[in-house]
Amino acid sequence: MTAQNAEPLIRLTWTDPVTGTHGYLVVHSLVSGVATGGTRMRAGCTMSEVEDLARGMANKTATFNLPVGGAKGGIDFDPKDPRAFGVLERFCGFLRPWIDAHWVTAEDLGVPQHLIDDVFAKLGLQQSYHAAISRSADPERTLRRVQAGLNAPVPGGLLLGDVVGGYGVAQACIGVAAAWSWDPAAATVAIQGIGTMGGGAAWYLHEAGMRVVAVADAAGTLYHPQGLDVPALLDARDAYGEIDRGKVPADVQVLPRDAVLSIPADIFVPAAISYAITAANAADIAGKVVIEAANSATTEVAEAALTARGIPVIPDFVANAGAAAWAWWLLLGEVGADPADSFLRLRTEMQSKVALLLAGWTTDRTTPRVTGHHLAATNRVTPTLTEAPVPLLIP
Ligand SMILES: NC(=O)c1ccc[n+]([C@@H]2O[C@H](COP(=O)([O-])OP(=O)(O)OC[C@H]3O[C@@H](n4cnc5c(N)ncnc54)[C@H](O)[C@@H]3O)[C@@H](O)[C@H]2O)c1
Repeated sequence: MTAQNAEPLIRLTWTDPVTGTHGYLVVHSLVSGVATGGTRMRAGCTMSEVEDLARGMANKTATFNLPVGGAKGGIDFDPKDPRAFGVLERFCGFLRPWIDAHWVTAEDLGVPQHLIDDVFAKLGLQQSYHAAISRSADPERTLRRVQAGLNAPVPGGLLLGDVVGGYGVAQACIGVAAAWSWDPAAATVAIQGIGTMGGGAAWYLHEAGMRVVAVADAAGTLYHPQGLDVPALLDARDAYGEIDRGKVPADVQVLPRDAVLSIPADIFVPAAISYAITAANAADIAGKVVIEAANSATTEVAEAALTARGIPVIPDFVANAGAAAWAWWLLLGEVGADPADSFLRLRTEMQSKVALLLAGWTTDRTTPRVTGHHLAATNRVTPTLTEAPVPLLIP
């Protein structure tokens, strides 16, 4: 059975004894007894959302040939609430048997990496990749390698661990431009969400010479047809990825939040919420291609409508998988603290996958999602429950 139609292995619901809110863990698949997937926090998060995300993680690990399964954590709580840290701490404490031994988690919507690492440190587990690190041949050395990689400085005053996912998204956009022989300097991009993923993507697209004409955060859309000053806008963000409107130049148009969907730009990058593109708004999408930086950004019906309009969707489990793939390359010692090695590996893998996905689309309109699922299924034969687990070898 392939990852996209299999039932998850487990679904756990947690009730916070203090706030009464709910948190969810879904383990879609285990490979060598381990599954990987971030933890998100947003008011309104549901079990079915977390289930979709865990399935997506299983697709990512298979597509990028990572030796682990897919999982996801989600908490139905406002990350800006002052009680959020306590909720996250209790959630992780409750799931301790999983995070101790089987579930490698990381940042996601509403939960930055430093926050989840702080929670793990409070639980005496040092780092959110604990379940993998503790299995390695030399856990101390692996922890040092992981921390050096996550904290490696990159241009823009940021850290490699914070930008690598967005770098991968930017490479997916650049891969599309290359496949369709676009001049990057003439290509335009609109991005919904300017936090970890959207912000990283914007930085590297700007660096590659593409014009980022619109970005949206939770408060609205900012638009400049000639291109936004991306570094200045990124500098004006708060810890939640919202841009201080007092620092927005006067010639930038301030539009309603969902205006970003219909901005005339070649590429549309949803990099915020899940189910951003639905049957109700698919007709508004003005891009020639959608690159899913956000997980489960496009509903099935919306994708069918986009396909009918000749707009391919590069699916989340390829476009945004850079963060997960890179974390495992780091854990496995295949990349280290030099950002150049990580960028080269991710650039090469992302651009070749995007070229493959678009080749099927160009030939006979096979959607990139279908080609991606085929790639994932070829890479991974789902182990049966009777099969002895293969040990995960982390140097
Ligand atoms: N962080 C990662 O490593 C990672 C990796 C893979 C995929 N993702 C996915 O990328 C998406 C964004 O995650 P992130 O970590 O960048 O989140 P984040 O919390 O860092 O940033 C979210 C951004 O979206 C904006 N936003 C929120 N609601 C919005 C709305 N309705 N309209 C427009 N903008 C809105 C916020 O203001 C912020 O700019 C999520 O779907 C997440 O699952 C994240």
